[in-house]
Amino acid sequence: MNGQKKYILSLDLGSSAAGAVLFSREGKVIRQVQKEYEKYYPQPGWIEVDPNEIWFTMLSAIEELIASAGISAEEIAGIGIASQRETTVLWDRISGEPVYNAIAWQDRRTSKLCDEFRYQGFSGLIRQKTGLILDAYFSASKITWILDHIKDARIRAEQGQLAFGTIDAWLVWKLTAGKKHVTDVTNASRTMLFNIHTLQWDEELLRLFNIPHKLLPDTCSNSEVIAYTESSILNAAIPIAAMAGDQQAALFGQMCLEPGMVKNTYGSGCFALMNIGSHPIISDNHLLTTIAWRIGGEVTYALEGSVFGGSSVFRWIRDGLGLIESTAEIEALAQTEPDNGGVLFVPALSGLGTPYWDPYARGMIIGITRGTSSGHIARAALEGVALGIADALEAMEKDSGRAITELRVDGTSATYDFFMQMQTDILQYPVMRPQVMPSGATGVAYLAGLATNFWTLQQIREQYTVARTFSPNPPVEGQSVLREKWQKAIARVKNWDF
Ligand code: G3P
Repeated sequence: MNGQKKYILSLDLGSSAAGAVLFSREGKVIRQVQKEYEKYYPQPGWIEVDPNEIWFTMLSAIEELIASAGISAEEIAGIGIASQRETTVLWDRISGEPVYNAIAWQDRRTSKLCDEFRYQGFSGLIRQKTGLILDAYFSASKITWILDHIKDARIRAEQGQLAFGTIDAWLVWKLTAGKKHVTDVTNASRTMLFNIHTLQWDEELLRLFNIPHKLLPDTCSNSEVIAYTESSILNAAIPIAAMAGDQQAALFGQMCLEPGMVKNTYGSGCFALMNIGSHPIISDNHLLTTIAWRIGGEVTYALEGSVFGGSSVFRWIRDGLGLIESTAEIEALAQTEPDNGGVLFVPALSGLGTPYWDPYARGMIIGITRGTSSGHIARAALEGVALGIADALEAMEKDSGRAITELRVDGTSATYDFFMQMQTDILQYPVMRPQVMPSGATGVAYLAGLATNFWTLQQIREQYTVARTFSPNPPVEGQSVLREKWQKAIARVKNWDF
């Protein structure tokens, strides 16, 4: 038992904010600090973030957390890192400076490159090896773009001067002052370069995307002491004892430990994952197959529905339309109307993910009349997100051959009661919200706690409690019409920006 240590620290680097969360031995959140960082939109469909800004935002969140909690870094038993996945950083191994901004997961600039590979017939090979759909969402084509467009990047990469990483690897590099270049198998499984069966980087895919192997990090499992933080950075050498993609971490944090259990996280995008056990199922219904976690020698896989429109849509209603001052106000605005007034909102602001996979789709609000109010638009936005999740979960039932009987939810928008009831009524099965949120941070806290003997699995299971269960209301008249209209609307947004 790791008796002298009192806390586990989770670092949660999501798509719009860096969060530091401190957990007590009882599994309670003692304190959390969250700080937003900038995103850059140099061209339509392009989304970038500054890796140094991400790092400094994360570091200042950790420092503020430690200071405001009045603890010493020495009291932290271990750190877990949950990060947005796929977002691609290339940096110089000597100076530590990025060669270009990080290309965010929502960025669509490499769609044409992915089309070329599709026309050449590589989709099946990629699917079999990586479990992924050939799409600009994943890291491979983003790496190729940087190597092809940034001066000297390819030569420097071939000479071994550059390093690639998703955000988890970038954070570990910074926390260890450049001593460790490593990613975990869940983040690796989102690069489109990692074979999910052999758990190795795939040489054939590296050749296809023209990416030198020398760029790549080592890989590790999800619950082990990977490295120690450099003492000069946090005033202590703290074990980094877990890292995982935020969505896989949330699946663990939601204690979806048995095959068939499903969670959905309502973040910038929405990501529904089903535990499918120790054998990967390659989807027939346009879902992704991904590594859920590797603990010791055992690998657990998941089916994933990635729905790109989530709170990013509510933020657009706040910032782009100015209809609300904070995203949480979307619920109150939606409730000013009893229904959507015939308005549908397809939240394809970054294209469509599961199960449609169309990078050229764009958002649409349809059905507007002279009587349409901002309340109708807010309501349609909430419905659009909830309907997208329903599509993904239906595909999951078909692939797995299992009926979903309950959905565990987390993420900021999962705190919206009206929205969660709407989701429940669309799904027609119970939706459960846990006591401790956010679940990505909780998941890596649990994984780090296991690796450092801070907790046992039994203790973690006992800590997980459901705060509220939403039960479905009987379907109202017009519910099936809504689903039909939704499909019509989806058909209209496809290929819009081709
Ligand atoms: O795949 C992208 C995903 O990991 C982003 O998650 O929570 O930042 O929207 P989030």
